[in-house]
Amino acid sequence: MKRSLALAAAALLTVSASSGAPGDPSGGDPYFPGQGNGGYDAGHYDLVLDYSPSSNVLNGIATIKARTTQELSRFNLDLTADLDVSKVTVNDAPAAFSQGRTELVVTPTAALASGRAFTIVVEYQGRPKHVVDPDGSRGGWIRTSDGVFNANEPQGAMTWYPGNHHMTDKATYRFTVTVPSTRMAVANGDLTSRKTTGDRTTYVWDVKEPMAGYLATVTVGKFKLTDTRIGKYRTIVAVDPKLADEAVNLAERHAPVLDYFASLFGPYPFSSTGAIVDHAPNVGYALETQSRPIYDEVPSEWLLAHELAHQWFGDSVTPSRWQHIWLNEGFATYADWLWQDKIGERGLQTSFDTAYAIPAKDAFWKTPTADPGGPAALFHDRVYNRGAMTLHVLRSKVGDTAFFQILRTWTAEHKYGNADTRAFIALSERISGHDLSDFFADWLFKPGKPAL
Ligand code: TRP
Ligand code: ZN
Repeated sequence: MKRSLALAAAALLTVSASSGAPGDPSGGDPYFPGQGNGGYDAGHYDLVLDYSPSSNVLNGIATIKARTTQELSRFNLDLTADLDVSKVTVNDAPAAFSQGRTELVVTPTAALASGRAFTIVVEYQGRPKHVVDPDGSRGGWIRTSDGVFNANEPQGAMTWYPGNHHMTDKATYRFTVTVPSTRMAVANGDLTSRKTTGDRTTYVWDVKEPMAGYLATVTVGKFKLTDTRIGKYRTIVAVDPKLADEAVNLAERHAPVLDYFASLFGPYPFSSTGAIVDHAPNVGYALETQSRPIYDEVPSEWLLAHELAHQWFGDSVTPSRWQHIWLNEGFATYADWLWQDKIGERGLQTSFDTAYAIPAKDAFWKTPTADPGGPAALFHDRVYNRGAMTLHVLRSKVGDTAFFQILRTWTAEHKYGNADTRAFIALSERISGHDLSDFFADWLFKPGKPAL
């Protein structure tokens, strides 16, 4: 009797504990509604991956440390159904789960209280496939002749690991990746260990600063790796042997760019730098993967500067929604204009004048810079060049001192965080003391070519 009462009491407790509400299956971004999930915040990803390039089989164990933001009965992780989940635990207890096309839905045995730390472990395996983005380009796990080119902006992360793949949910990472010893696994952050057992080698990469999922990379292939301290920076450069001839001095080219940008934008935000240069003729773009951009060719000076500028604008300070992408691309473009000017490749005013000379009837002026209209337009020329022009005109309005003070305050106040266009306007007005509403309305919010 006593015993059954105790059991009944336990059952009652379970019932009341399993109330709570399901986490939102959407992160709320209008450009990519499926991306991200509500109800929790991820803090750390420990990804243990084993990959065989010849078969494209990936085995993964993802351990995610998170915190609930509500009483949570159920929650989603973003992961494509090309990967099969075999087991999920929440706080070491097996959890129920189901997989949709891009969502893994997890139901713990009992609801989790709000504001509570918890641990999710997902075991999964399969043959990852790249995604085709709305603009037609490939993203995510993109196979190459010797491995994988892994670039995840805006939605590739779900092709190879489960997570809260929304740009506002940043986390620290450890990647432990095992590949055949004839290949190498190159990721973000610091290489902390490399160990060969039999014919396979395990690489451990640690990312100690918070990172948005779209900036993660685990790239696999044949590489020549150099790891050197150059000036203030640990510089880790991986170059596909096919491109080695063109890549001479690539490591040495980083410190001068970073020193220049640090003098303008504030201290370099990450513990290491470098590049991943992979021969990938089917990709067609580079990406500012955190601390170590990935390139599909040996970068020119402007491209190197562009991706390194993103470390401040995009990686450390990340937009809170995709429509604010000009905060990444306009700023990185302005920075690459500054670098081209600095090295005497092309004058800053020439860069501005060339873009401004585009006739008013051209599609270039068609959409507002602060909302290019949809996910297919994220990486359009007009976001890059009109964004950069906006900064150049802002600079002429407020003067050099206030302008660079605005940029340094921006990188300091939002370091490792997220911000949007409104915050940038408010900061510009606060520091300059000017009412800039008409200027920003013309340059950011209205379509059409603004008068000078
Ligand atoms: N953000 C990248 C850069 O400017 C460009 C980029 C990322 C891109 N993903 C893309 C361009 C997809 C075209 C298609 O450095
Ligand atoms: Zn860019």
